[in-house]
Formats: sequence, C-alpha cells, structure tokens
Amino acid sequence: MKEIVERVKKKTSIPVYERTIENVLSAIQASGDVWRVVDLSEEPLPLVVAVVTTLHELGYVTFKDGEVILTESGKRLVEKYGIGARADYTCSHCAGRTVELDAFGDLLAEFKEMVKDRPEPVHQFDQAYVTPETTVARIALMHTRGDLENKEVFVLGDDDLTSVALMLSGLPKRIAVLDIDERLIRFIEKVADEIGYESIEIFTFDLRKPLPDYALHKFDTFITDPPETVEAIRAFVGRGIATLKGPGCAGYFGITRRESSLDKWREIQRLLLNEFGVVITDIIRNFNEYVNWGYVEETRAWRLLPVKVKPSYNWYKSYMFRIQTLEGSKGFEDEITVGDELYNDEEASTT
Ligand SMILES: [Fe+2]
Repeated sequence: MKEIVERVKKKTSIPVYERTIENVLSAIQASGDVWRVVDLSEEPLPLVVAVVTTLHELGYVTFKDGEVILTESGKRLVEKYGIGARADYTCSHCAGRTVELDAFGDLLAEFKEMVKDRPEPVHQFDQAYVTPETTVARIALMHTRGDLENKEVFVLGDDDLTSVALMLSGLPKRIAVLDIDERLIRFIEKVADEIGYESIEIFTFDLRKPLPDYALHKFDTFITDPPETVEAIRAFVGRGIATLKGPGCAGYFGITRRESSLDKWREIQRLLLNEFGVVITDIIRNFNEYVNWGYVEETRAWRLLPVKVKPSYNWYKSYMFRIQTLEGSKGFEDEITVGDELYNDEEASTT
C-alpha cells in the first residue's frame, strides 16, 4: 500500500493517503464505471485518475470495454487488506436530501414547466445546473430552517434558477438575484413578468467585483453555488455573508467532493469559522445533483480519464452547507484580482 501511495504522490500534488487508495479500490469493486468510481470513492477526480493509472501500471486493474476492472492480482490486493465493495444505502425516498417533496409537488410541476426553455450551460462561466428536484428540495430545506417565509433572500449566481422556484413558492418577502450571464438574467426577468411577480430585483453582475452598497447588509438569507477553489468560495460565500443584515441570518451553498479533497474542505471550514466567523449548522451529503452538461469533452476531467466514456447518470453532486451568522460574523467585500485561478486549482476538473 505504501508503494502505491508513493507512486501516486509522484503524479499529483493533491494529498494522498492510504485511505485514498482504499476508497478507490472499494469503489472499483462496486462499479467499473469511472464516473461512478469518482462518485463512490468521494475523492477528487484528478486524484482518482492518478490512483487508477498507478493501479494500472502495477497490474492491479485493467481497462476493458470502457470499464475499470480488478485483475487477479488486484483481487489478491483487496483481499489482503480486507477492502470490500463500497456500499450505497442512500434513502430512496428523499435521495439522501433529508426533505420530502410531497408537499411541494405542485411547485415542482410548475417549476419544470417554467424552466423547460431555460438557457443551456456555457463553459465560459463554469455553468452546470441542478435537477428540478434539487432546486425544489432547496426550497423545502430553507423553509424548514425558517429562512424563507417573509424573509429577504439574495441569490448570488443563479444558473440553477433557484430564484424562479423562490418566486413560485410565494414564501419570501423580497428576492434579489444576480448573475454574470445576461441570458439567465433575461430569462428570470421574463419568468417574473409571466407570473406577475414584483418583489424581485434582478441584476447582471460579476462577483469578482465588490457588491454595491444597496446590496450590503440588507438580507436575511442567501444562496450561492461557488466554483470549488478556496478563492472562489471566499468571493462567492464571503459576498453572500456581506449581504446579510447581521447575526441570526443564514446562507446556503454547495461544496463537492468531486473537485475538493478533505484537505481543501478543512481550508474551507477554516475560512468559514476563522475568517467569516460563522457557524456551520448543516452539511447534507450529495444534496445537490447536477444535470450532465454538454461540454464534458472540453473539460479537464475528459482529458485526464484513462477511459473515455460519457457519464451515463448524474455523477456530479455537491453537499449542501448551511451557515448561520452570529455576533462578530463578517463577510468579504474586497475586489478579487485573480483570473483563471478563481475557477481552477489542481483538484478542479469540470472547467
Ligand atoms: Fe429519506
């Protein structure tokens, strides 16, 4: 095992542990689909690739018909270390989201109808949207936490069209939404017109820039879905916190394991606790499920994968974080000057 770890370390700067190898070997026994191996192992995709190619070089796995399969020598390896197939007992009723959608059935149907002509994701903005069930589950979740009814809600970046579901729910007192993509902004404006919703402010805005005064310290709840670098999380989540009125407000955002190691998660949690002074109240595993985006063959993931097979199911998921502000919490209001690094680090693969 130590030899495998040492070899993987030569291929990547992402931290590698024996546990990493164990996670990948466990996932391979559950599925030969490389996307599923990333999904189940919960290691960043570039790290899974480094492990799988190392296992291949050492003769522990083979690639056959687009699948990753343990060889006889690989089977002896997992037997020696007592590594079994990774189990998955995700609750089939709620898909692991912890909230049920039965009470929101009408909202889900209306939302699906409203968004059927939505703009498709573009690579330029690192876009990928979540399933309608995910968007509506967000409404259910935020409502159960007391963060929607008669609250002022800010949506920072809205590829997922959460603002549309918020409007349809009729729960918030006021909604503000911004996105860098004018197509989305026009789409949300059109929906607001169609349903006659007036308590919404809609702006085209680049979150690398500091928010204007009229957006700061005015809201009860924010939701955002940041790119997965620490800098981007500082910018997106930090600006979200800066929109909040003060203590007792809440924020929601997704953080994935697909593009972030637990080492990066620790940095993110430090940022939240030490720099922003907020508390994490919820982390719900794989809450956000993303619809596969059309530009997969242009991504780093595609270039890295040793077997080029398109994903056959929604493999990309993120955990839902909920934070709450306390006395002394503060957001981030400075300009972001980094370019590409905002979206990319060693662990990223979907840009
Ligand atoms: Fe459940």
